[in-house]
Amino acid sequence: MNAQLTPAPANADLDAFWMPFTANRQFKSNPRMLARAEGMYYWTTDGREILDAVAGLWCVNAGHGRREITEAVTKQLSTMEYAPAFQMGHPIAFELANRLAKIAPPGLDRIFFTNSGSEAVDTALKIAIAYHRARGNGQRTRFIGREKGYHGVGFGGMSVGGIVNNRKFFGPSMLPGVDHLPHTLSIEHNAFSRGLPQWGAHLANELERLIALHDASTIAAVIVEPIAGSAGVILPPIGYLKRLREICDKNDILLIFDEVITGFGRIGKPFASLAFDVTPDLMTTAKGLTNGAIPMGAVFAHRKIYDTFMQGPENAIELFHGYTYSAHPVACAAALATQDAYAKDGLLTRAASLAAEWENAVHSLRGLPHVIDVRNYGLIGAVELESRAGKPATRGFEVFLKCFERGVMVRQTGDTIAMSPPLIIESKQIARIVETLGAVIRETA
Ligand SMILES: Cc1ncc(COP(=O)(O)O)c(C=O)c1O
Repeated sequence: MNAQLTPAPANADLDAFWMPFTANRQFKSNPRMLARAEGMYYWTTDGREILDAVAGLWCVNAGHGRREITEAVTKQLSTMEYAPAFQMGHPIAFELANRLAKIAPPGLDRIFFTNSGSEAVDTALKIAIAYHRARGNGQRTRFIGREKGYHGVGFGGMSVGGIVNNRKFFGPSMLPGVDHLPHTLSIEHNAFSRGLPQWGAHLANELERLIALHDASTIAAVIVEPIAGSAGVILPPIGYLKRLREICDKNDILLIFDEVITGFGRIGKPFASLAFDVTPDLMTTAKGLTNGAIPMGAVFAHRKIYDTFMQGPENAIELFHGYTYSAHPVACAAALATQDAYAKDGLLTRAASLAAEWENAVHSLRGLPHVIDVRNYGLIGAVELESRAGKPATRGFEVFLKCFERGVMVRQTGDTIAMSPPLIIESKQIARIVETLGAVIRETA
């Protein structure tokens, strides 16, 4: 299909847009411009078809160009384009919250809306501190994150996150009182594990060490991604998340799961906490909430947390926090239509039925040159390539570029290639992703 909808700007016109998380000079010397999208595919400005192996950026779970979402957004825009959610309401915000509460992990049925994953994380951190304060534990202000964790780019998320490049440029401008658990990636022990790795549950016990160091009475919450995405797909060892839950319970510490990428069907259940049968106290989501169509995030809070805030004079604001665009009506419309699409097509559980095929496909890359690990769960996959001596990330970047030239969009983090296709993917597309990636890896010395 040819698509010349948006002409590519001349190279001279590329300077003004300071692109996020991008090698700007490299991109602008050889741009990769997307113009149109439908189903599993993008088309570039010069009409090339690109198979989307990353659901945009882990968000387009129901596939591109969903007509029902477009129609809902269009209708909402022409009915009421904006309404404040401070001291005012509009019906679809409540409808959406009720809808999400129905698929939420047990008890997490109080929903706070944001506009992104980063805002959801900062919101959850603030709720955790204020919750303890409301219970008379105002000294519980510390957070425990994890090495290699990614929780967005707000000051809170950056501080609890553990990706060095996202932190080191911003010097001491971090939240005070944050410590980090060790990450759970071990190629030495777990290389080429299929699904969750066997080795590493004991790493959760490091939380006890940090509690002994700081004292439980100073710690508000632990925040982890059930499966870390941005650092290159890091899976929780079997038993690890349950152990974290136990230790938090024992010490009255809140457990926050950041499900911005694992939420909404990515691993075969609506949320990873349901797949792993571990219920956090707060859960952050975004991305798949609206299928990426309109920016939106949501924090799912346990009812006990919400109820703790509902005290004092009835006309007093209980939580001094919110965004102009919290529960934006157009985003709510997009999210409701997205949830309809997920329900209609069974997408919140479809990854489970494809997981074995996906696992076999990505593990078929084992044995190719420089492949030192393959990781998978649900419809997430990662291939880790050996770094070139003294030139980390160059091999990964080359593989990413060559895949794109051959019509497959993957994601690169360092020397890891990550994949998270739309949940509508079919067998022939799984095969094409893996064939293309395999051919490119073979060619990349
Ligand atoms: C686990 C996790 N948390 C938070 C974020 C931040 O979300 P956003 O980019 O919407 O702010 C991301 C984004 O990739 C993420 O993967």
